[in-house]
This record gives sequence, C-alpha cells and structure tokens, in this order.
Amino acid sequence: MSMSEHTNPLGDKPIRVALLGCGVVGSSVARMLVESADDLRARIGAPVELVGIAVRRVGKDRSDVPVDPALFTTDAEDLVTRADIVVEVVGGIDPARGLLLKAMESGASVVTANKALLAEDGPTLYAAADAAGVDLYYEAAVAGAIPILRPMRESLAGDDVTKVLGIVNGTTNFVLDKMDTTGAGFEETVAQAQALGYAEADPTADVEGFDAAAKAALLASLAFHTRVKGADVFREGISDVTAADIAAAKAMDHVVKLLAICERTTGQNGTSGVSVRVHPAMIARTHPLASVRDAYNAVFVEASAAGQLMFYGRGAGGDPTALAVLGDLVAVARHIVAGGRGPGESAYADLPILDVGDSVTRYHISLDVEDRPGVLAQVAQAFADTGVSIETVRQHIRTNSSSGEARANLVIVTHAATEAALAATVDALAASEVVAEVVSVMRVEGA
Ligand code: HSE
Repeated sequence: MSMSEHTNPLGDKPIRVALLGCGVVGSSVARMLVESADDLRARIGAPVELVGIAVRRVGKDRSDVPVDPALFTTDAEDLVTRADIVVEVVGGIDPARGLLLKAMESGASVVTANKALLAEDGPTLYAAADAAGVDLYYEAAVAGAIPILRPMRESLAGDDVTKVLGIVNGTTNFVLDKMDTTGAGFEETVAQAQALGYAEADPTADVEGFDAAAKAALLASLAFHTRVKGADVFREGISDVTAADIAAAKAMDHVVKLLAICERTTGQNGTSGVSVRVHPAMIARTHPLASVRDAYNAVFVEASAAGQLMFYGRGAGGDPTALAVLGDLVAVARHIVAGGRGPGESAYADLPILDVGDSVTRYHISLDVEDRPGVLAQVAQAFADTGVSIETVRQHIRTNSSSGEARANLVIVTHAATEAALAATVDALAASEVVAEVVSVMRVEGA
C-alpha cells in the first residue's frame, strides 16, 4: 500500500447518519448526501449511510427527496440511538435538546443548525459531548454557508479577538436595504419581503432581532472564550426604523444595518468584560459591511495579530445552510475514521458580561427645535450636562407646511460615549422646552 492511500480502521463499515428534520434545509442535506455519496466517501475515507430521517408526518409527499421512503420515521427517539452522527435541522429548544442529549449518550456525534438551543443551553450540550467523547459541531447555526465558527474555534485559536461586527440576519438586511434604495417605510417593505419569500409570515424572530441575538451569543462565546447566552444579549429590532432614519443616514453618507456587535471593553467601574448587543445602527457607506446588500450576511472580525478579517456570503436558504451542515458532517466523520475529536467548549476566560449602559458608541440625533436665540446653547448644555462630546452639528430651517411656522432641524453626531450617558442626553433633550420633537436617534458604529 502506498503511503498516500487512506487507511480506514473501520474497513468498509459505513458511518451511519440520522437526520432529524426534512424541511428546506433537511431535504437539501438528504439530497446532497445521496448525490455526493462517492465524493463524500473519498473525502472521509469511509462510506456514509443515511439510516433514517425523523419527520412529524410520514405520509407527506416527499418525492423531491431522492431517498428510500422507508427511511422516514416519526420515532426520532429510536433513530438517534442507531447512528454514529445525528444531524439536527428541526430547530427550537424541545424536543431537540432531549434528542441531542440522548444521541450523545448513545455515542453519536452531533451536527446541528440549532442556534436557539445552543444560545440557550450550549454548555449542557458541550458537557454531554465531553462525557460521551463525541463531537458537537454547529457551523450552520450562524450565517448559513459562511465559514465563521470553525475559523473562530480553530483558525483564530492563537489570537485575541477584540471585536466581531456582523450582519447575521438576511431578512432584516433585505428589508433595510430595500428601505434604503426605495425610501419606503418599514411596514410596506416587510410586506414586500414576505411576498418575495424573504420574510416569514410571522417575521417577529427576524425583525425583532431574536435570531440575530442568538447568533451574537454564539459568536461572542467563541470569540471571547466566555459563556454568553441569548438572554445576555441586549436586543433591539428594526420595527421602529423609519424612512426618516434611513434618509438621515443617507444625508451623511451612511446606511442603516441591523448589527450584531460583540466586543471586549471596559465598564464604567473599570471592569474588563464583554459587551454583546444587536440593534440597528448607521455605518459609513465606505465601511465593508455597508456593501452587504439584499439578504446576504457578513461578519467582520478584529483580532490583535490578524487585524481585520471579513467573511461574506449567503446566510440562509436550503443549499447554503445544508452545505455548512455537510462540512461539519465530513469533519466529524473524519474524526470517527481517524480517531480523535474536534474542539470542545472553550469558556476558560469567563469574562463578565457588561450592562448595555457600559457599551461605548456614537449617536446620530435629529431634533426639531424652535428657531430663536439661545436654543442652540440650551441644546449644547444638555450634552455638556451628561458629559457627551459633540462631533458635528448641522442645522437647516424648515417651515411647517400647515402652520407656516419656521423651525430649525438640528442633526448632531456625538463622539463616542457610554450608552448610559447618551440615553440620559436624549431623555434631557426630549424633556427640554426648546425641543419640539426628537425626530430620530440612532447609534453610529464602525468608525
Ligand atoms: N431567518 C434567518 C435570516 C435565517 O433571515 O437570516 C436563518 O437563520
């Protein structure tokens, strides 16, 4: 035998794969497993055998999935005990959690796309993987086809990641991008996104930032070697973003994006910790993330030695997500063939998670104020009182079309300050007798 030939200690014994779920992603996984069987065998060094697909109803027409119909079963509990690798693409906390724990107790490695479960109870799953000596991989849980978790877990394992800035939800990126190009409002644009299949009938998880918050928790946990749960993430969705906000961003050559921001920072009391938040923010059109259009995702990473890195691609959809699942499946299967395991949980740094009030950002504030002497001074005083430094001020006069009354519109961009100080400034402005209306308030990131 030549030295380059693959040796397989299992002989030709197939690696048994159980699939939980056969929706958009699951059916793509099943099809790819069948269509790429020869390549997968060569890449892994052993054949892969699909031993069952757990579904809610077996009677449904699944003629588009090229597998023996006898493989479909409703008995997921039994199926997970008959596999070497269990692939879970069902989502949700339960029953997925119990099934994956049972799979690992039975000796199977797990490949999952379940961001909600990992962001809720990742340490329990990692502990079960350790106890059983199996792998837990979940590349498909964040940003679909984009390889980002493996680079975090492995390629950057020798570096110190200081910041992760991501567009990790395609639905909201599609909506904000369309609002930017058409000038339309939020409701109208979401309805358009639903009609085109980019937004769910109930878009809450996407537009309110829950999906992005779970992904931010997973990214922050890996980046900072610290356990971060979805519930630890400060979250604001995009449903309050108005056409006026988008226009205000445009006027200063910025775009509005829903950003997942994970950073190492120091709190007001000097504590070093991590800040993890998801909210809409303006970023300069020159920033690499500003060019992420439609439903695409991107993750921008800053690390001490590597500097700036950008990962870009399709964050959702059947084939792109299935591709991430298959990559994990090959990695795990190779471990089964060659022995050994992939990386387990790395949470040794155990950094405190800082309150959102400690996070540091810049604000863009648009105010309608009375046009008379002393008003600008009073507005400036509100910033001075809360210790927030003003970076730029622009003013133009606009006349109310019905009353004919002239008002000044002030657009103020601040220097970086704590979220707590900025929030106090906005409260003071809203209460000020010279401010007729706080038109829009938005964070500015990525400077
Ligand atoms: N609903 C998500 C998105 C895809 O719009 O990006 C799955 O995480």
